Amino acid sequence: MITIKGNAFRLDTGNTSYLFKITSFGHLEHLYYGARLAGYEAASGLSQKRTVPMGCTILYDSSDELYCLDNLYLEWSDIGRGDYRQSPTELKMPDGNFTSDFVYYSHNVLSGSVSIKSLPCAYNADQTLVVTLKDKCHNIFLDLYFTVFEKTDVITRRAVLTNKGDGLLSVRRIMSLSLDLPDEDFRLLTLDGGWIKEAHLHERPVQYGITVNSSTTGNSSSRHNPGFMLAEADATQDTGHVYGFNLVYSGNHYSLVEKSGRDIVRVQTGINPHCFDWNISPGECFETPEAVMTSSERGFNGMSHNMHSFINEHIVRSHWKNRERPVLLNNWEAHFFDFDENRLLELAADAKNLGVELFVLDDGWFGERSSDKSGLGDYWVNPKKFPGGMKAFVQKIKALGLNFGLWFEPEMINPDSDLYRSHPEYAVTIYGRTPAMGRNQLVLDLCRPEVREYIVKNVGALLDEAGIDYVKWDMNRNMAEGCSPVFNNQGEFYHRYIIGLYEVLSRIFGARPHILLESCSSGGNRFDLGMLCFSPQVWSSDDTDPVERLKIQTGLSYLYPPSTMGAHVSQSPNQQTLRRTPLSTRFNTACFGCLGYELDLKRLSQEEKEDIAEQIAFYKQYRKILQYGTFYRIKTYKSNKVVWQSLSQDRTTALTGFFQLLSTAAESDDKLIIADLKAGLYSVKNRPRRLYLKSFGELLMHLLPKEHKSDGSVFGAVEADPAIADCIQEFECSNRALAKGIPLPTQFSGSGYNENVRLYGDFGSDMYIARLKNAET
Ligand code: GLA
Repeated sequence: MITIKGNAFRLDTGNTSYLFKITSFGHLEHLYYGARLAGYEAASGLSQKRTVPMGCTILYDSSDELYCLDNLYLEWSDIGRGDYRQSPTELKMPDGNFTSDFVYYSHNVLSGSVSIKSLPCAYNADQTLVVTLKDKCHNIFLDLYFTVFEKTDVITRRAVLTNKGDGLLSVRRIMSLSLDLPDEDFRLLTLDGGWIKEAHLHERPVQYGITVNSSTTGNSSSRHNPGFMLAEADATQDTGHVYGFNLVYSGNHYSLVEKSGRDIVRVQTGINPHCFDWNISPGECFETPEAVMTSSERGFNGMSHNMHSFINEHIVRSHWKNRERPVLLNNWEAHFFDFDENRLLELAADAKNLGVELFVLDDGWFGERSSDKSGLGDYWVNPKKFPGGMKAFVQKIKALGLNFGLWFEPEMINPDSDLYRSHPEYAVTIYGRTPAMGRNQLVLDLCRPEVREYIVKNVGALLDEAGIDYVKWDMNRNMAEGCSPVFNNQGEFYHRYIIGLYEVLSRIFGARPHILLESCSSGGNRFDLGMLCFSPQVWSSDDTDPVERLKIQTGLSYLYPPSTMGAHVSQSPNQQTLRRTPLSTRFNTACFGCLGYELDLKRLSQEEKEDIAEQIAFYKQYRKILQYGTFYRIKTYKSNKVVWQSLSQDRTTALTGFFQLLSTAAESDDKLIIADLKAGLYSVKNRPRRLYLKSFGELLMHLLPKEHKSDGSVFGAVEADPAIADCIQEFECSNRALAKGIPLPTQFSGSGYNENVRLYGDFGSDMYIARLKNAET
């Protein structure tokens, strides 16, 4: 709800309030952002109380010796009038100066969201406040948008700069959000990494000066995700004040946190000013992407819950919004480029038998693409691999009872392709320079209308002709040498590319909302809210090792819900790390996301196949909770444990993934914590899991129910009967005891074995299911 009283604006969501006011000189002073305030707080109480002038400051106006922009908490600020902190803009004004001074002009309250012409944004808001500022000397206007999403405790912000003068306005920097907060001894948390190690959580104290979280690769990048958090020093998963920020944008992003000498913490996020230079001609405007912010007093989990609901309700759209996502099998790690129709059909038939719902054909089906050296750009189906064409192949897959998905990398071109031979000008290169290559490919120039047309027409035609249900949209190299002949000012390239990408995506998938789009960029190189406006799920990482995934999915879970994370079970030893892990742990990790399998099923034993069939049946039973339930990172007191929980909306069913990293000798007692259940008595049990006896080596002679000789016949027996069930656990407990944590059975420690010993070793795990038995009256 938006309330305006006098010169003060108040924005309320269910649990938060955000206040600012117009100062006597027309600037916007930030007053408050945090837990919801009762009644109407007088702005005078929240406003800064300056009583004496500070030394060494520049006065904004000599009529007021206390008014100094550098000391104010501001919603926006300028260069040149005494605020020496980072300005959200760097504008070369029509008179050639860098000084601007935007002050209050008017405001307007609108119902709902206001869409952005060139970019995707959140939808179905409650209200939007637009405060228009005008530069004191030029006819340049700045609209600041504040959009309120009450139920999810999110407020978004963005800016539109309009040139109503008659000279050229050059924009070198314009942020979507600038906000000054009082320091709470903040920690800054970011998600950083790279290929196969995306979204690792890092934190550092906010210190004096500027810390930047940004990308310059042309995409939002796995180096630094655009989302970040500010947490008061002693915030925990469940307590304390945490702010979350994100940006609805897939290109070069930039965020900063700057602590000033007066302990004011400035937060900004927007398009990266790196190589950015945009001209606004008279009569034109520039729209920034939308920045997202939330505040929670319920620690990191509370902040995440706001972000998760916001994404599920206001970012993800299409037919797939809030719908259960299919269990898929992707053939990439099974075949790479080495397949034909028969191999694929064999894999698909096995997948169907295990309960898979969607068969995804990855790279290598088109053009002359038998390796990553050629073929990108050519959308014709390779007749050697598919003699009857794609449609006939898809019909065979559908006849098995499976839906069908296809991989594309539409933004790229190999020099060794028909497309490049006929249209070398479609690639992003600089005349006279040897192009910088990545994975043997160049980027297609999406700033060119004819390139966008080529992609929309060719991808769209195949989707319709073959009846495709799912698309994996990949993007496997960073940009370099960004330039396009479409415009003279090359400072516009990176942003115009992203506008072009969004146009292509909305033309292809807006017209086909039934298609489930999964975006991918060498794994999670483009895991951002911009892509999520088009693709309800994103391939989180090329790393399918569950131990690595614990880090990756934990990191992502701070700002993105499980329904957005593609997560697959693959072979062991893992193809990225060579680590060996139990099949149960691979599943227990992947099931806290959109589950898929990515392995050659024919290499599995009968036992393993049965295991997978049971996993898929279990996932289908609890899929709604695992994809859309309330997700918790449960505190652990041991550094070798990771615990995740998903809670049903009615809080009567919880699924808990209890993971052990490296085992320790004589591991001390473990306890199971289940948070936030509705009051009552619960039955708790673990999902039965098989232990494959080969992993026990010679020790298996002590574990097997019958006696075996160690002369080789043991291994014959192991082949025939290779798995036993691990410790079955079943308890009855109240929600209160579970919130505190109940003891789990002892782990194996070399001193004996019976069926009540938990056999974890390195990377063992359990999945616990808690269900309400009797509600408390
Ligand atoms: C990228 C993707 C993989 C796979 C390959 C195919 O690396 O991240 O999942 O699709 O491309 O070339």
